[in-house]
Amino acid sequence: MRNFGSDKLSALNAKFEAQKIAFGPIAFQAVRVMRKLGILQMVEESRKEGIEVSSIAKKLKLSNYGVQVLLDAGLSIGVVRQVNNKFLLTKTGYFILNDPLTIANMDFTHDVNYLGFFHLEESIKNGQAEGLKVFGNWKTVYEALSSLPEQVQESWFQFDHYYSDIVFPLALPIIFQDNPKRILDVGGNTGKFSIKCAEFNPDAKITILDLPGQLNVAYQNIGKHGFADRIDGFAIDLLDAKKPFPKGADVVWMSQFLDCFSEEEIAHLLRRSFDALNDQGALYINETFWDNQKYEASTYSLNMTSLYFSCIANGNSRMYHSEDMKRLVEAAGFSIAEEFTDLGVSHTILKCKKK
Ligand SMILES: C[S@@+](CC[C@H](N)C(=O)[O-])C[C@H]1O[C@@H](n2cnc3c(N)ncnc32)[C@H](O)[C@@H]1O
Repeated sequence: MRNFGSDKLSALNAKFEAQKIAFGPIAFQAVRVMRKLGILQMVEESRKEGIEVSSIAKKLKLSNYGVQVLLDAGLSIGVVRQVNNKFLLTKTGYFILNDPLTIANMDFTHDVNYLGFFHLEESIKNGQAEGLKVFGNWKTVYEALSSLPEQVQESWFQFDHYYSDIVFPLALPIIFQDNPKRILDVGGNTGKFSIKCAEFNPDAKITILDLPGQLNVAYQNIGKHGFADRIDGFAIDLLDAKKPFPKGADVVWMSQFLDCFSEEEIAHLLRRSFDALNDQGALYINETFWDNQKYEASTYSLNMTSLYFSCIANGNSRMYHSEDMKRLVEAAGFSIAEEFTDLGVSHTILKCKKK
């Protein structure tokens, strides 16, 4: 039985919340532009003194009108406050300016999603990532990744890596607890995790399964770290259910990966993992389940990220509820041997063994 959320706001407050949604994209752009133009930075540097519009306008070579209209919007949004004509930064403004998580989310929203989200309605109706059309003609963002404009790629990777960089060091002792020798890093992307495995355990051999575009970047990174003898790549379109994974693995590692696929596709991927694993081996799934979050802010971010999958990534995947993933894992012939929660920003690792 799933329960979530409440309806405790007064009608007046609820109507205000509704206006925040109605003007949401405008508020987003106002804050982003104040950050980009250096306005919030100047307000922060003025500390408790505060700063007037004209001083900011003069220093940044902007009109008084432009700075004023943005900062007045900022008052209503809550990123700045005003005392005796001078502007001061609020705590929310501080996070917009300085918090790496907020910056990664905001740049991802702007560079990767903003234009494409005009096509969310068609995406939901057609089950295709219609928003991806703003960048070109691809079915999924993964085929497009290495060809996307530089700024878009940068924000995509910054978003992906922000979350994974924090959880990877925590995952290593978990996946090496049974001393695996052969690891498959499915959807291993630019090789970050595989390189960390090779550094962590001198006996481990790792194979990255991914698309050729991503593997080319991975090979460069592997070469730079001197691990070409222990990490190799296996170019594969993982959507092709008939293509088996290389056999004989002690560990299959899938990190921030199954959220890129529909339930039906996940069923195939899990089945092929089962076939690739030795009988004593283990499948480790590292995911951000929206129901497994300590903070409401995390659940909020994950449910918004699901719509990136609908509109930009592939049209049919999402950040899953943990119960849905466990059902798929069980159906593929595994049982959940251990569950590690509260890892990094918002991750859970499921250790799955053959039944
Ligand atoms: C969100 S990234 C996760 C990367 C990494 N595992 C991490 O934790 O940061 C998903 C990865 O799956 C790969 N992928 C998605 N669809 C694929 C497909 N059809 N065939 C091969 N790889 C695919 C992408 O290229 C990408 O590297």
